[in-house]
Amino acid sequence: MQVIYPGSFDPITFGHLDVLERATNLFEKVIITIAVNTRKNAIFTPDERISLIRESISHESWSEKVDIQKFTGLLVDYAHENNVKTLIRGVRQFSDYEYEFRMALMNRKLGRDIDTIFLMPSEHLTFVSGSLVREIAYWGGDVSHFVPANVAEALKNKYR
Ligand code: PNS
Repeated sequence: MQVIYPGSFDPITFGHLDVLERATNLFEKVIITIAVNTRKNAIFTPDERISLIRESISHESWSEKVDIQKFTGLLVDYAHENNVKTLIRGVRQFSDYEYEFRMALMNRKLGRDIDTIFLMPSEHLTFVSGSLVREIAYWGGDVSHFVPANVAEALKNKYR
């Protein structure tokens, strides 16, 4: 079975990678896909984000089960175009739940046959988020515990 793991991934964190690895243990193929048209102000371009993900998983045995893509428009349309009916989302804590619940139900309303499976990252990563990582990096803090080395380096270069 193929699944889609969508998100902003701006940038990819150890939390995302933990969820991605768990998904590869459960499914034959995981399409990790970057939403291009979100209204958020991104720091990395979609192609930069794809390269960062590719570099950070290249040494992993499970990376052959991962396809890295980007998409514009509605996620349900992208899922239908790829003949995928299952979405993966990571849920870290209760505060994520409301947003994720609304999005999963809306996607099922729009897509009918589209369901979302939630995976929990390891507990030591539950507080890691892309937005906090960006803020720490912006102020010159150490993000090496939260993102792979190539991402930490790319953040340093962005905010230099
Ligand atoms: O990592 P994020 O920012 O929480 O991911 C949110 C994302 C990209 C999965 C969501 O915004 C999305 O699916 N965007 C594509 C447009 C869309 O389908 N929106 C309706 C969602 S109910």
